Amino acid sequence: MSFTASSPPSASRVMPTSIMNPPSTPLGNGGAGSGPNSTGADATEIRGRERQGSFGGSTKAKILKPFNTANIKILLLENVNETAVSTLRAEGYQVETHAKALSEDVLIEKIRDVHCIGIRSKTKLTKKILDAAEKLGVIGCFCIGTNQVDLEHAAQKGIAVFNSPFSNSRSVAELVIAEIVLLSRQLGDRNIEMHQGIWSKVSANCYEIRGKTLGIVGYGHIGSQLSVLAESMGMRVLFHDVVPLMPLGTSKQVGSLDELLATSDFITLHVPETPETKNMIGEHELKTMKQGSFLINASRGTVVQISALANALRSGHLGGAAVDVFPKEPAANGKFFESELVGCPNTLLTPHIGGSTEEAQSMIGVEVSQALVKFINYGTSIGAVNFPEVDLRAIKDEENSIRLCYTHSNVPGVLRQITNILADHNVDKQFSDSKGKIAYLMADISDVTPEQIQDIYRRVSETPTNIVTRILY
Ligand SMILES: NC(=O)c1ccc[n+]([C@@H]2O[C@H](COP(=O)([O-])OP(=O)(O)OC[C@H]3O[C@@H](n4cnc5c(N)ncnc54)[C@H](O)[C@@H]3O)[C@@H](O)[C@H]2O)c1
Repeated sequence: MSFTASSPPSASRVMPTSIMNPPSTPLGNGGAGSGPNSTGADATEIRGRERQGSFGGSTKAKILKPFNTANIKILLLENVNETAVSTLRAEGYQVETHAKALSEDVLIEKIRDVHCIGIRSKTKLTKKILDAAEKLGVIGCFCIGTNQVDLEHAAQKGIAVFNSPFSNSRSVAELVIAEIVLLSRQLGDRNIEMHQGIWSKVSANCYEIRGKTLGIVGYGHIGSQLSVLAESMGMRVLFHDVVPLMPLGTSKQVGSLDELLATSDFITLHVPETPETKNMIGEHELKTMKQGSFLINASRGTVVQISALANALRSGHLGGAAVDVFPKEPAANGKFFESELVGCPNTLLTPHIGGSTEEAQSMIGVEVSQALVKFINYGTSIGAVNFPEVDLRAIKDEENSIRLCYTHSNVPGVLRQITNILADHNVDKQFSDSKGKIAYLMADISDVTPEQIQDIYRRVSETPTNIVTRILY
């Protein structure tokens, strides 16, 4: 397989895809010794695809082709959801799937040849592994976190990383609704007793949730979903957030965390892990909570001081708690869990399963695979976690335009060089942004001849600041 062409592109609008992408480079890196005039293209690679899609109703958007998509190799590890596999195969990419993570040696061998890799949380993409990847242009983390990837090194190599931070919001919100009911009826303890053969029929301190006040800390994707669900079950909803937000339904934003803690029957935490939220709920906050009230944490383990919570539960100040996330979580399933919360009264402990549903996995598969397709086919980096986020509106189908995607070092003077190269062309639209040491520019250029395309490609990819140059057409 090769991304090079043996001849210049024809005048046809369906140009040889492989021309724009030299070999052994990430999705078309214009590195030294490679370029549009390199040889090696298989004649069968030089073909286009049917146009499809829409652009504002009757006007069609041009489907850009970076290359013959059948040549794009994608490696999906760790049983990535079938929704992703089918989305990527539908694009004509070659997709290889593995049910488990690969050992480092095997991964180094496999990653050498692929343009895109999809992983979940077990595969570590370290500097060593990324350096073995000769053609890699994009990584899909089919999960929430991206700690398993050396994001900075990936960015320096022009490799964009995408994840799916919000696909499981509904799953978390539903779990919290269940926990509100379970805590209110002491169901965790009754269930344990029954499994021990103990019949204990009690109604003291068991309540309906109707009419009770739910205090939500962090009114983002999960907090706001929860607000709607809780109101539909007859709860009164208050919330605290660092930014003023439009309340949904009849919920109300309160002025401070302490006010929320002092007035709610249930407190549920939905904040991100930041220096400000570390140990956000400690002894003072727990004392501020109402006698007999409940705490739920399905956000991040560092948000709650576990010792202080265990004390508040054992002393009877809190009526119960549900905890899904912990400061230290076992790396694998098995008998590895230890916590001061074990054995506390009316305390529901779950192994970080808030977002773990079939629906969430399916949504993650769709969201991440679509981001990968947009990046490969259109250059769109919106949603990338380590990369400047750049997008351009679609090129209309009738326009004879190309799209330049230029990942480069973020140093002064780069735009002057690019402007010089494009000075005699009609640049329809252009946008660039930077993040740390790298920057990304997208420009749509119309009415260019195949020779001019080659010239633009060569001159841009030969700039000293070039990391990756791609031309889509
Ligand atoms: N248990 C699980 O399996 C699971 C699954 C998904 C997400 N999460 C976690 O849930 C949390 C919330 O996720 P989300 O998708 O709703 O996030 P989000 O970014 O949509 O919302 C977070 C909200 O918290 C607010 N916030 C930030 N700092 C705050 C502070 N100091 N005080 C008050 N509000 C603050 C933000 O303004 C924002 O509105 C995250 O920590 C996420 O990692 C857990």
